[in-house]
Amino acid sequence: MSDVVLKVNDLKAWFDDFNAVKGIDLEYKRNTINAIIGPSGCGKSTYIRCLNRIHEEVAGAKISGEVLLEGKNIYAPDADPVEVRKHIGMVFQKPNPFPAMSIFDNVVIGPRLWGERNKKNLEEIAYKSLQKAALWDEVKDKLHQEGTSLSGGQQQRLCLARTLATNPPIILMDEPTSALDPIAAAKVEDLMMELKDEYTVIVVTHNMQQAARVADYTSFFVLGELIEHGLSSDIFTNPKNQKTEDYITGRFG
Ligand SMILES: Nc1ncnc2c1ncn2[C@@H]1O[C@H](COP(=O)(O)OP(=O)(O)OP(=O)(O)O)[C@@H](O)[C@H]1O
Ligand SMILES: [Mg+2]
Repeated sequence: MSDVVLKVNDLKAWFDDFNAVKGIDLEYKRNTINAIIGPSGCGKSTYIRCLNRIHEEVAGAKISGEVLLEGKNIYAPDADPVEVRKHIGMVFQKPNPFPAMSIFDNVVIGPRLWGERNKKNLEEIAYKSLQKAALWDEVKDKLHQEGTSLSGGQQQRLCLARTLATNPPIILMDEPTSALDPIAAAKVEDLMMELKDEYTVIVVTHNMQQAARVADYTSFFVLGELIEHGLSSDIFTNPKNQKTEDYITGRFG
C-alpha cells in the first residue's frame, strides 16, 4: 500500500466564471494531519469542498483536474459522490447537528441511511463514535435529547462523532475550532492528534499556533494558488517564500 492516500492533480474550481482554485497539486500521506492556511477568500473552503465532491452542489460550480483516492479518481465518470463521501468525511466550521433530532440519531444517521437497522449495532456505533469524539461522558445520560440542545463546543464534537460513525479514512475539517472557546478548541485539537492513528486529517485553520501544534504538514494558499507546502516545522520556522514569511508573521493578508 502506498503511503499516499490522497493525491490532487491540477485541481481547479470555479463559481460561474470566477476561478477560485487555480491548479493545486498536493499529496497527503496516510495518518498525518495537514493544515491549510491563507488569507480570507483565498479558496481554502472551496478547495477542501472539492476533495469530497461537495463543491459541485453549488449552482454554477465547475471543477477540473483529478483527486485520486487510493489511486482512483473521485471525479471519474463512474465515481459515485455518495460513495466518495463515505470515504472522505467532513466537519464544517459551524456545528450543524440535524435539528429536531436526538443526539443518538444524529450520530448514527449515516450508518442508518446505508441500511444498518440492528439496534445493538447502532448503539455500539454511537458509543464508539462519541467516545472517539470525547463527548460520551458528557452526553451518555441524555442521548435522546436534541442535538441542538448541546453547547457549541459539544455540537462541534457531535458533528465529529457523526462523521466518525461512518468511519471515513480521510476527514476534512473547515475551521473546526473557530467558534469554540479555548478549552473546547484544545479538546478538538487533542482529538485531531488522537485521530491520526486511524485517519488522515486535512484541516483549514486561521490559527497559526494550532497549525504549528497539530499539523505534520502545512499548505499556504493565496488567491487560489498554493504558495508553499511542506513540513509544518519548516513552514513556521524557516519558510522559503517571502509571502509565507509575511503571512505567518502577520505582515500580510
Ligand atoms: N457560493 C459562492 N458563489 C460565488 N463565489 C463564491 C462562493 N463561495 C465562495 N466564493 C468566492 O470564492 C473565493 C474563495 O472562497 P472560499 O470560501 O473558498 O475562501 P476561504 O479561503 O475559505 O476564506 P475564509 O478564510 O474567509 O473562509 C472567494 O473570492 C469567494 O468570494
Ligand atoms: Mg473558508
